[in-house]
Amino acid sequence: MKKTYLYCAIAIIFYSCQPQAEDKSTAVGLDGWLEGNSEEKFDVIANQLGGFSRTMVEVSYRYSELYWAGMDENWDYADHQVEHIIEAMEDGLKRRPLRAGSAEDFMENTLPHIEELIQKKDKEEFIKGFRALTSACNACHAKEGESYIMIQEPENRLSPVRW
Ligand code: HEC
Repeated sequence: MKKTYLYCAIAIIFYSCQPQAEDKSTAVGLDGWLEGNSEEKFDVIANQLGGFSRTMVEVSYRYSELYWAGMDENWDYADHQVEHIIEAMEDGLKRRPLRAGSAEDFMENTLPHIEELIQKKDKEEFIKGFRALTSACNACHAKEGESYIMIQEPENRLSPVRW
């Protein structure tokens, strides 16, 4: 028994005295645009991914596409947009976890509800649901002190997708 302890102690000392692999500064990517050690590279990549504003630009586009999908009764496209809104929100909230509290109702109730409505393939119901979605966007903006970003139902199409 005593011997086992001794071997363990020797093994721990041996491994902890090994030199740590050095995190060298290297340049990778096209023309070596991504420079520095690993931590510096991750910082640059995190900046490239952007914060919540970047998420919102995507969500906003998809919100608009969702609206026109409903108007066209293109329910598969509507479903596609909600799925991607969820993904974009999840990724954005991962990068900015402090926003998650304000988005709780949106994630847990508003988005699942609109998903259910899309399954019903009923345009009138969809229009009502979309109104609730718009209010939920604005409710979160108010909670986050961004009330000046007032969302209204889209008036113009943004993409060439038609049904
Ligand atoms: C966390 C709750 C939250 C929800 C839910 C939310 N937003 Fe936002 N939104 C924000 C915050 C916070 C900002 C400001 C982000 C910043 O500047 O960093 C913002 C900014 C925006 C912007 C401005 C983006 C820019 O920088 O140009 C738009 C457009 C937008 N939101 C649209 C929407 C739409 C459409 C919805 C609903 C489908 C929505 N948002 C739902 C929190 C939310």
